[in-house]
Amino acid sequence: TLHLNVPLLITDDDVHEALPRRKSHGHKGSFGHALVIGGSSAYIGAPLFAAQAALNSGAGLVTLAVPDIIYPQLAAQSPATIFLPLPTENGYLAQDALQVLENKLETYDTLVVGPGLGRWPGGGEWLARLLKLAHMPVVVDADGLAMLKSHLSLLPKRDRPVILTPHPGEMARLLGATVGEVESDRLGIAQRFAQEHGVHLVLKGHRTVLATPEGKVWINPLGHDALAKGGSGDILSGIIAAFVAQGAAPEQAVIASVYIHALAAERCAAEKSRYSVLPTDVLEALGPAILSIV
Ligand code: APR
Ligand code: MG
Repeated sequence: TLHLNVPLLITDDDVHEALPRRKSHGHKGSFGHALVIGGSSAYIGAPLFAAQAALNSGAGLVTLAVPDIIYPQLAAQSPATIFLPLPTENGYLAQDALQVLENKLETYDTLVVGPGLGRWPGGGEWLARLLKLAHMPVVVDADGLAMLKSHLSLLPKRDRPVILTPHPGEMARLLGATVGEVESDRLGIAQRFAQEHGVHLVLKGHRTVLATPEGKVWINPLGHDALAKGGSGDILSGIIAAFVAQGAAPEQAVIASVYIHALAAERCAAEKSRYSVLPTDVLEALGPAILSIV
């Protein structure tokens, strides 16, 4: 039986505690290897934002797996990223992209799937197979969430954590509800979904909610409309992956990520107004935001 737990407001101290500790003698292997799978012919920026956010948040290595048709454009823009070009079909990842990924998956400490991925017929089955092959913590975002809808029953069976990062529209689609229904009961909906499906559910938007599989609920007090620009969500999924790759448990990784993401945006807005903050500004402000906490 479910009962609503009292939500906790994330504080500076919680984030200080939750941030993965760094060691001066650490090498890139100590800080984890994150894999981002995303991109399609129409959306090439999204996976790049996620990969850059992961690098700026301390991941030791970041590999970006994208359709091979968009790979040359991306490779020119992010010299610190490793690229894994995958077979493309009709502008999206091809079915046999999985065979390429299959043997390599054990290399990675964490996986983000979804930013800019698009949706294609058979994509849900593709994603379900990927989730069965991937024995590491996984962040599912954006179009990954849309394609997950008919495969939610596989989530509780996974042996490693799953973090879902829907915005209210994506949450509504997952539930078969309206955005209005989701927004009228953000806490209850997040908590029930997380417990029912055994996932960490990050319900984004103003006052982002984190619900854990055990029924704990956190609210992010920071953040405003400076984040209301395409690309913000992709950055969040990359930050979460970086903190998980550095050894944070999913709950701690999300607590630190949503707060630092929002703090970075607030700091940018203080300099250039809420109107003018771009995702690239937020990416650059991640470092200063982390510095203000550690
Ligand atoms: N206050 C606080 N936080 C906000 C606000 C606000 N007013 N507006 C946006 N945010 C934050 C959200 O909490 C979230 O972390 O910015 C991020 C926005 O994420 P998404 O809604 O996923 O937007 P984004 O991914 O950048 O949009 C690009 O990806 O998911 C798809 O359908 C989505 O087409 C869209 C695309
Ligand atoms: Mg998004």
